[in-house]
Order: sequence, then C-alpha cells, then structure tokens
Amino acid sequence: MIVSTTHCARIGQTIALLYAFIAILYTTNYLLASPLRACFSLLFNLPTSTTLPNSSPQVSPLFWDTKASRPSESSWPADIDNDLVLSKAFSSSMHPSKIVPFFYRASGELDAEDITITTLITSNRFPVFARLVERYQGPISVAIHVNNNSSEYYSLLDSIHTLYTSTPNMARFVDVHLVMDSFDRQFNTWRNIARLFARTDFVMMLDIDFAICTDFRSAMRANRSIMDELRKGNSAFVIPAFEFVKPDEGNHQVAFPTDKNSLLSAVKAGHLDMFHASWEVGHNSTDYPRYYAAPPGEVYKVTKYQAAYEPYIVFKKDGPPWCDERFVGYGGNKAACLFELYLSGISYYVLSDHFIVHQNHLYEEKVRKDERKFNKKIYNDFKEETCLRYFKHYHDLGILNSTRGYNIQQECTKLKGFPQIAQQALDLREHLDIGMSTGQRWFDVDG
Ligand SMILES: *[C@@H]1O[C@H](CO)[C@@H](O)[C@H](O)[C@H]1NC(C)=O
Ligand SMILES: *[C@@H]1O[C@H](CO)[C@@H](O)[C@H](O)[C@H]1NC(C)=O
Ligand SMILES: *[C@@H]1O[C@H](CO)[C@@H](O)[C@H](O)[C@H]1NC(C)=O
Ligand SMILES: *[C@@H]1O[C@H](CO)[C@@H](O)[C@H](O)[C@H]1NC(C)=O
Ligand SMILES: *[C@@H]1O[C@H](CO)[C@@H](O)[C@H](O)[C@H]1NC(C)=O
Repeated sequence: MIVSTTHCARIGQTIALLYAFIAILYTTNYLLASPLRACFSLLFNLPTSTTLPNSSPQVSPLFWDTKASRPSESSWPADIDNDLVLSKAFSSSMHPSKIVPFFYRASGELDAEDITITTLITSNRFPVFARLVERYQGPISVAIHVNNNSSEYYSLLDSIHTLYTSTPNMARFVDVHLVMDSFDRQFNTWRNIARLFARTDFVMMLDIDFAICTDFRSAMRANRSIMDELRKGNSAFVIPAFEFVKPDEGNHQVAFPTDKNSLLSAVKAGHLDMFHASWEVGHNSTDYPRYYAAPPGEVYKVTKYQAAYEPYIVFKKDGPPWCDERFVGYGGNKAACLFELYLSGISYYVLSDHFIVHQNHLYEEKVRKDERKFNKKIYNDFKEETCLRYFKHYHDLGILNSTRGYNIQQECTKLKGFPQIAQQALDLREHLDIGMSTGQRWFDVDG
C-alpha cells in the first residue's frame, strides 16, 4: 500500500513538471515567437506562415486538426429531440401542437411496395372509418386530431381506444397518429402527417367519406407498367369519385356498386353521378364521358387539368411535394396539394376500371362558406408563388422545355400577368449575366 502511494506521488510530480514545461514552451511561442515572426515578415516582406499559398496545414501548437479523418457515420449524432424535429417538419402549421406518431401501431406484416391509404378522421366519422378498414384489408395510416383544450379530451382518447380495439383488422392494418392542439380543420397538416408516417412506398390520399368499391390495390400491384410508373414517381393514378343523386341513397354502403357495369347502369338510371356535380371543376378533368366509354384495362392521361381539380390519387410517398400547410379549414386545401404535384411535373392518369363512392353526411355549411372565402385568397396567391418557384427552379435545371416542365408552361400561363413577371425575372438575371443563355423567350408575352 505505502510503496504504491509514494510511487503514485512520484509519477504525479513528474507529470506536473512535464505539464509546466510544456506550458512554458506554449506561452513562449505564443507571446514571443509568433509576434517576432510576424514582425520579421513585415520588415522583410516575407510571407507569414499563415499566408503561404497552397501550403500544407501548419503544424503549430495553436492550430491542430480536430480529427485526422472525417467523422464516420456511426459517430453522427443520433438522438435528436423528436418533438423538436416534428415542430420543424411541420413548421408552417399552427403552433403549439403536439404530434404523437404511432399512438397505435399495426401489427400486420407490411410489403414495401404496397399502397397505404392515408386519411384523417374526426370522432363523428369513426363508424365510417371502421367500414373502410374492413373493406380495404390493406395498410392504413390515419391522423386523428385531438383537441386538447376541450372537456372531451379524455373521452375522445377513450373512444379512439374503443374504435381501435373494436375489430382485429384495426390492430392488423391501421397506424394511428395523433395531433394534439386546439386548431380544427388543419387538413393539409393532417394529410402530411398520415403520409409521412405511412410505412409503404405508395400512398392513396383519400377522404374518409368514400367507400372503396373496387379492388384497385390488387389490380395496380399486379400491373407491371403501373408499378413502374409509380416507382419513377412522375405519375399519380386517379380513382374516379361518384356520389348518389338522392342523398339518402348514399347511406347504405352495402348497396353500392362494386364493378364497373353496375356503376354504369346506376349512372344511366340517374342514381349515381360524378362527385360534386354542382362544383364541376373539382372533378371534371377526370373526363367522365371518356371514363364511361373506356374499354376494360384502359388507363388514360388527364389532358384537361385545371387548378381546382382535386381527384383521389395513388402516388409515390417519397419524392413528390407535400401539401401546403398554410391552408387551414375548408376550401382549396386539397386542390393546393394536387396543384403543386402537377406543377412539379407529375401527370395524372385515370384508372378506368375503378371507382369510389361518396357516403352522404351533413356538412358544417356556415363554417365551410366562411372558410372558403378566406382560402380562395390564399389559393390565388399560392398558385402564383408556386408557379414562380417551380418556373425558376426548372428553368435553372434546363428542363422547362421537357415533359416535366410541360405542366408549368400549360398551367402557369393561365395566371394573369404571370408570363410578364416570369419573363422580367429572367431578363433581369440575363442582364446580371448569371449563367443565362440569351434571347430565350419562354412565353408569348404579347399574347
Ligand atoms: C395543448 O397542447 C399544446 C401542445 O403540446 C400545449 O402547448 C397546450 O398547452 C395544450 N393545451 C392544453 C389546454 O392542455
Ligand atoms: C380553451 O378553452 C377555453 C374554454 O373553453 C377558452 O376560453 C379558450 O379560449 C380556449 N383556448 C384556446 C387556445 O383555444
Ligand atoms: C369542367 O367544367 C367547367 C365549368 O363548367 C368547364 O368550363 C370545363 O370546360 C370543364 N372541363 C372539362 C374537362 O370538362
Ligand atoms: C396495365 O396498365 C397499362 C397502362 O399503364 C394498361 O394499358 C394495361 O391495360 C393494364 N393492364 C391490365 C391487365 O389492366
Ligand atoms: C421548346 O421546344 C420547342 C419544341 O421542341 C421549340 O420549338 C422551342 O423553341 C423550345 N423553346 C425554348 C425556349 O427552348
């Protein structure tokens, strides 16, 4: 014991001495050597060590490499606060908000190439959701808003639990993500949450009120050319939407048609019509006459897109733009998602063997009317802004005149004054000589 302590003390002393010695060397170099070198170089016009051109890193006691090699991936920081990341991921949504991904997580096996239905539900739509789960028999990712400033907070959590445990298929297929805050109808945020946490490569953006009538999922997965297009990420597939002309008939899902022939007879008999026939622009780009006449297996391209089009689509989860979260409430929100997808160069294709049918329910008419006015203004600005952003980006990439750039040329020229604004922006850049080839006219500005 005694021997080893004195031994240690001696080692300690040696270390202390060594340290003092090194410290003196450091200080001398710092206080004397460096300034001296600097003075000499000034006097004799010698380059100082730090200004030597192309020199290898100077080995100086004051400068040293933090690491000899770059940090390996395993040493990258792994633990980043989830709430922080999510608040950044949804930074254009309203705050404060708490997102709880996988509040319930499905136990069933997933195939990466499957199609997950992404949707949103409020408590009054739970029964409809249960029917969707039974019908689809595939992966579903659902965002549920929980107003945490409400006396019903706990009873809502209870009813979500009751819903989730009501059938084995819930636990097998459904992932539930909660959004807890006091903001109602942040539809685009909720859509993005459902998509972000979907666990397959492809998603379908669906509103909960629709009944799935045909098995588009198996049909798409079995069709190699459709799957190839999905993987490339430049195509979205439309499942046409219908509704009953008499609202009461839309309450009995068991009586809905499940194949195209019965659909066609119901349409011919005047029972069914395109969804929202009174707001034609929402769906008529699907071209219903062509859909009715299409032979089995036909997949046709949407050629008459316009900015109010809001079909229900299957597309690639990762890659295409996300829904703009500044739209809160009714009006424009879904159309904005589809507009940006379209501008980014995604083409819409209609699956002419398949369809979904709306199940009637009461709307909050007064709220809808007020919010629509509000969002109409936001949507008009959004269109212009999105056109400018993609126009500039695709111009710089040199793909404005390609298949991907075609949608921008088609759609943005419809905006009042857009060609002039865009051309001015380009002319200015040309003038500043920042890598522009000269003389390109993208638009017929006078026309
Ligand atoms: C609701 O949740 C938000 C986000 O977590 C939080 O900031 C807020 O205080 C909560 N409100 C109530 C009444 O619990
Ligand atoms: C929360 O609820 C109370 C009472 O219902 C209300 O006075 C308050 O404005 C609400 N706060 C928010 C942030 O919605
Ligand atoms: C859709 O409806 C609008 C308004 O009725 C009409 O102007 C437009 O031509 C229609 N588009 C198609 C593709 O049928
Ligand atoms: C598969 O999809 C292509 C379009 O991508 C279509 O032409 C073809 O008819 C489809 N095949 C079947 C069997 O539906
Ligand atoms: C775009 O392509 C068309 C046809 O290929 C061509 O006529 C036109 O000059 C091109 N425009 C520009 C600005 O390159």
